[in-house]
Amino acid sequence: MGEDKDDFVVTPWKVEGIIDYDRLIEQFGTERITEELKDRMYKVTKEKHVLLERNLFFSHRDLGWILDEFEKGNKFVLYTGRGPSGKTHIGHLVPWIFTKWMQEKFDTTLYFQMTNDEKYFFEPHLSLDDVRKYTYDNTLDLLALGFEPENTYIIQDIEHIDLLYEIAVEVARKVTFSTVKATFGFDNSTNIGSIWHSAIQAVPAFLHSWIYGKKTPCIIPCAIDQDPFWRVTRDIAEKLGYYKPASIQCSFVPGLKEGGKMSSSEPMSAVFTTDTPKMVKKKVMAAFTGGRTTVEEQRKLGANPDICSVFKYYNFIFMPDDKDLADIEKRCRSGDILCGECKQILAPMMMEFLEKHQAAREEVKDRVDEFSAARLRDELRR
Ligand code: TRP
Repeated sequence: MGEDKDDFVVTPWKVEGIIDYDRLIEQFGTERITEELKDRMYKVTKEKHVLLERNLFFSHRDLGWILDEFEKGNKFVLYTGRGPSGKTHIGHLVPWIFTKWMQEKFDTTLYFQMTNDEKYFFEPHLSLDDVRKYTYDNTLDLLALGFEPENTYIIQDIEHIDLLYEIAVEVARKVTFSTVKATFGFDNSTNIGSIWHSAIQAVPAFLHSWIYGKKTPCIIPCAIDQDPFWRVTRDIAEKLGYYKPASIQCSFVPGLKEGGKMSSSEPMSAVFTTDTPKMVKKKVMAAFTGGRTTVEEQRKLGANPDICSVFKYYNFIFMPDDKDLADIEKRCRSGDILCGECKQILAPMMMEFLEKHQAAREEVKDRVDEFSAARLRDELRR
């Protein structure tokens, strides 16, 4: 839970207030991604990534060690995941896009955990049918980004528990109730499924090592709210004979409304991957900006992109070219462009992105099984 002196809260289940990311790094005990670390990554990837360049991926644990090992020829695996509690929005795609890039550039295997059990434990309004339906639905969004089955394994916790259980019991014996209470703020009224979930979310970090009987480094790309899980996981990893998982963490994708992150519970703040062009346009046109109350004022004084949600979208995904971004920022600050016009630029960009995404989503509809972690059962029989 957040500390009293901060007016923001970041936990895996709640993100609130205006987040001071420097303070968050301090609170969580992670480290900032330095220019030197970026350069070390680029030495391998041979190209830059806008999410790193703009410091949207900004925090890490042990990224330097992962690169040391990689340079020595000890390749890592990737692990990330999704709690299928609703439809996917654009914000969810950001860490997955980055994961895809890392997978491609480092030529490595991805374990992707769909925590249908977690969402069932934590969200009383969801039925088992709901979380199953969202698991399938969210998987389409993941696969639409272009993952290949050869090196991608999607773990559905409920369906694939046989693959996870042995490691989960090893983990669960080492983690105490007082640790998870302190880490996640649980109390006596928390259901025991939620408590148990801390063990389940640790498992994929060790899965590759366990299956192949070879201690293998693992790095977890994710939004920084998941860090509490990795603290618990890292705490017990070495006791079980595994490496501590590293992680590389991003900030939250802002919503289209004032402040706050993109959130499914605020439908006007979120652009869902299945939204129609008309809905996208409506949401963008209603978005919060840093504009002035009157046109004359804005022409004279300019607007403020620092607080503008439209500008944040340019920054996050829609204007990867730094020159374009600098140009629109200048026009905004100088009053040369009004917010309505600026939204008319973003809306078609988003619509085009979604049109492509939705087409790709259709194409993977019959291919979901090809990615199933159930294939790992064969590895275990070998
Ligand atoms: N708990 C995450 C969520 O609610 C899902 C998840 C499981 C995850 N394992 C992960 C996210 C690893 C990032 C990395 O969305």
